[in-house]
Amino acid sequence: MVFNTYAHLVSSVFFIVLFAHAEAYDPLDPTGNITIKWDVISWTADGYTATVTMTNYQMYRHIMSPGWTMGWTWAKKEVIWAMLGAEATEQGDCSKYKGNIPYCCEKKPTIVDLLPGVPYNQQVANCCKGGVVPSWGQDPSAAISSFQLTVGSSGTSSKTVKLPTNFTLHGPGPGYTCSQPVIVTPTRFLTSDGRRQTQALMTWNAVCTYSQILASPSPTCCVSMSSFYNSTIVTCPTCACGCQNRDNCITDSTIQSIVGANTTNGPLLQCTQHMCPIRVHWHVKLNYVSYWRVKMSITNFNYGLNYTQWTLVVQHPNLNNVTQVFSFNYQPLMPYKSTTF
Ligand SMILES: *[C@@H]1O[C@H](CO)[C@@H](O)[C@H](O)[C@H]1NC(C)=O
Ligand SMILES: *[C@@H]1O[C@H](CO)[C@@H](O)[C@H](O)[C@H]1NC(C)=O
Ligand SMILES: *[C@@H]1O[C@H](CO)[C@@H](O)[C@H](O)[C@H]1NC(C)=O
Ligand SMILES: *[C@@H]1O[C@H](CO)[C@@H](O)[C@H](O)[C@H]1NC(C)=O
Ligand SMILES: *[C@@H]1O[C@H](CO)[C@@H](O)[C@H](O)[C@H]1NC(C)=O
Ligand SMILES: *[C@@H]1O[C@H](CO)[C@@H](O)[C@H](O)[C@H]1NC(C)=O
Repeated sequence: MVFNTYAHLVSSVFFIVLFAHAEAYDPLDPTGNITIKWDVISWTADGYTATVTMTNYQMYRHIMSPGWTMGWTWAKKEVIWAMLGAEATEQGDCSKYKGNIPYCCEKKPTIVDLLPGVPYNQQVANCCKGGVVPSWGQDPSAAISSFQLTVGSSGTSSKTVKLPTNFTLHGPGPGYTCSQPVIVTPTRFLTSDGRRQTQALMTWNAVCTYSQILASPSPTCCVSMSSFYNSTIVTCPTCACGCQNRDNCITDSTIQSIVGANTTNGPLLQCTQHMCPIRVHWHVKLNYVSYWRVKMSITNFNYGLNYTQWTLVVQHPNLNNVTQVFSFNYQPLMPYKSTTF
């Protein structure tokens, strides 16, 4: 009787952990996206100055260290004269400029965030976090990253300016696809006394969405299960995350030497039977008619990655009635209106 309940319980548990999702459309986060917004704040003699703001509207997917990388293709022969709060990784070929040399002449600039602690005169609001941007679900006030750039050799009015195209976003690693930018209602800004609103001269948006298939075709975590009345642990399937890295992992004997050593080169994944970087263990501690309690443990097997910010997403029909969560911050993603148990 109890076992049947347990079997039912187990068979209807689904996990979506950290990144594991098969399609661009995520039913647990249907509108999840990262929006890149350009607000033109002034026109200059040969272009404009814009504040670029990236907002991570995803409910549970963070941009983790080493952070985001953004790119685009200039529509004409634009250059960047100056940048605050972020930097272009290449200056590019500015040889046709005499006198004032632009900051970046690349046709497709690649931009990265500055690291925390850069001098104040290189900062703007919401910048300089090493590209780390938590999800909206975790902390809406921190889910923003901004920088400012001054563009030259471009249009100098909303009639003549050409929008940059083909935005790319790595967050970090692949997975994001960005729409072409579209002109939207100009952003309004509240002045510091809160009594006056100003607005951008022109605003455009590109919306980037995540696809697990683009990021990694194989899962990045596995789930094991156990219960108080059965000493057998249902482990992750063998090679759950593929065996191709088997010659490229760390055995117990090498772990001692690698901890504290230079971990920027060489394999960093601990050799396991499942070869997954992360394991989630689901242990049923109590299973009564009116309630049940589980303990979840997450193990990181990758010595090269520290997850200072992480979110575990769990889907189960009973989670519409979670009464108590210990040691975690918990937030429901959506009501299970259509699911019956
Ligand atoms: C992006 O996310 C925002 C905030 O949830 C939402 O208002 C907007 O419709 C989303 N855009 C797309 C194209 O999904
Ligand atoms: C943008 O990307 C599309 C599709 O990959 C390509 O056809 C087009 O030439 C690109 N535009 C620019 C300006 O690079
Ligand atoms: C414990 O679990 C294993 C694997 O699910 C099962 O084969 C076994 O019959 C269970 N033992 C008991 C006592 O329920
Ligand atoms: C770690 O190894 C990388 C690549 O060989 C090297 O560039 C870096 O300087 C090393 N770091 C330390 C702390 O030894
Ligand atoms: C992870 O964090 C530990 C403890 O703070 C630190 O010793 C280690 O160098 C970090 N590893 C990486 C890859 O950042
Ligand atoms: C949630 O649990 C409480 C207490 O067990 C119960 O009274 C309530 O009906 C449950 N709500 C739902 C939506 O199942």
